[in-house]
Amino acid sequence: MRIDVVSIFPEYLAPLELSLIGKARQDGLLQLNVHDLRTFTTDRHRTVDDTPYGGGAGMVMKPEPWAQALAAVAADRPGTSAAKPVLIVPSPAGERFTQATAHELAEEEQLVFACGRYEGIDERVMEWAAEHFTVRPMSLGDYVLNGGEVAVLAMVEAIGRLLPGVVGNPDSLVEESHSDGLLEYPVYTKPSSWRDRDVPAVLLSGNHGKIAQWRRHEQYRRTAERRPDLLAGFDAGALPRADRAAFADLGYDVVDGRLHRRPDAGGGQN
Ligand code: ADE
Repeated sequence: MRIDVVSIFPEYLAPLELSLIGKARQDGLLQLNVHDLRTFTTDRHRTVDDTPYGGGAGMVMKPEPWAQALAAVAADRPGTSAAKPVLIVPSPAGERFTQATAHELAEEEQLVFACGRYEGIDERVMEWAAEHFTVRPMSLGDYVLNGGEVAVLAMVEAIGRLLPGVVGNPDSLVEESHSDGLLEYPVYTKPSSWRDRDVPAVLLSGNHGKIAQWRRHEQYRRTAERRPDLLAGFDAGALPRADRAAFADLGYDVVDGRLHRRPDAGGGQN
């Protein structure tokens, strides 16, 4: 996969030289280029922003440096693929970036990230860019960052670790939070007793069926407690009886394959 990132703070992306993503770059699994938006300006002050039409606080990023930068990236395409590269524009006004999005984007040949700053990028850039790219404004969540760079660090790590060969043991991608629409079960290591706290006995039992069941039920418990919103999309149609019972204990009934919280269930969530 090839990734291009355009930013006025290229140094912000330096962590992508470290750890698994840095190693993937060294190993040639990921080709990642960071471009300084200011090199695409033409004035003496290398201006990238201006005041907003219609008034209001803050500054807006000018369109022309963005068009120059994105045209340069689009012209330098790898391979012979006819598919347009995906242009991801991090923004709190974008669609939500999820694990499903990470999987979808990990299939692409080329991703380009446009890091906005200030109040954002002139909207006409997104319209113009649609000729060369599939444009996807993306939000990490419902909060506001100062710019797109931190969001790009998160998205590139989430996508990059899904590329074949990046994570040493691919099994670890299967049993993690959000891989099956639920939160991950709790994990423990040695010693089995630590500061008067024991590891749950089932994990020492050697009974793999019981361990798998305990872990699933812990996923249900955690998800019901911390992220009950995720349970609305959970497919409960084929659950074994013991799993239905676990959900019943948490206050959920299975109706037509979906989980429904009983109105009389305690706990105050939902
Ligand atoms: N830029 C500013 N806030 C953001 C957010 N929540 N997600 C992605 N990019 C952003």
